Amino acid sequence: MLKARAYAKINWILDVGPRRADGYHDLSTLFQTVSLYDQLWFETSDTLSLSIEGSTLPVDSSNLVLQAARALQTVLRQQRRPDLGASIRLEKHIPLAAGLGGGSADAAVTLLALNRLWDAKLDLKTLIALGAQIGSDVPFFFYGGTAWGSGRGTEITPVKDISVPYMLLVNPKVSVSTAQAYSRFDELTNCLGDAILPTCSFLGSKQLFEQVRNSLSKAAHELRPEIAVVEHQLKSLGADVVSMSGSGATVWAVFDSAEKRQEALQLFSDSTIAIPVSTVGRDEYLQSVLITA
Ligand code: C5P
Repeated sequence: MLKARAYAKINWILDVGPRRADGYHDLSTLFQTVSLYDQLWFETSDTLSLSIEGSTLPVDSSNLVLQAARALQTVLRQQRRPDLGASIRLEKHIPLAAGLGGGSADAAVTLLALNRLWDAKLDLKTLIALGAQIGSDVPFFFYGGTAWGSGRGTEITPVKDISVPYMLLVNPKVSVSTAQAYSRFDELTNCLGDAILPTCSFLGSKQLFEQVRNSLSKAAHELRPEIAVVEHQLKSLGADVVSMSGSGATVWAVFDSAEKRQEALQLFSDSTIAIPVSTVGRDEYLQSVLITA
């Protein structure tokens, strides 16, 4: 049996460029894994099955865990290897459609876990290419830590880890459709997008915090005004830096002490989901993502 952790991500920076002919956008984003994760268990079985706890996420063809498992089965079938099954259990903790990459993280760890469970021996490059077909955020989860994503978001360049101990994720319990946020962004920018600045490495968190931005904030605020309310609350509660993750609706904030973060956490009511997290560096990520149980 294999046990896996699918960590959530935030985006320190998200620059979205023009709409491409294929409907996607070129972008430049600085991803970061944080200490909130879904848990998954994988066991060999004659058939492929998935059970989910802690969420109303449907178990159908839209499910990214099943998409990942079937993608791997297809490759193995093409190699004329026998069909293998797995019994998969997913315990969901990352809010859905929240800009935290939960579904993408689940898909990436499913590819890693089944590659091992089925002794498929696909190399990392092949697994990443399969992941990219499932979603633009999936390839990042083969690296973790701090990393730039470019192109559609699938070209990953790992950089020195940014380490931040006191963060808060706040989700106003509204979901944002990523496709809808991009489409509103197109209307706002006439499909021209924002400037995509060159990727760079930061000397530390202080230097990075001056560069924090998200091209999709304006579009998401229009779709879900609750996001701007949460951002405003976090700023007035003393957060040093506040921004939206991905296409929202989750907002992340950095505090300079555990006490300040705790005070802020207590002031968020049940109308939001507020989760204290810290960053997870690449070494810790890669060591804890997959464990033989
Ligand atoms: O790749 P993924 O399935 O996560 O993308 C969901 C939607 O987000 C796409 O259908 C597209 O509308 C939008 N998107 C985009 N440009 C990107 C990534 C996503 O327009 N680079």
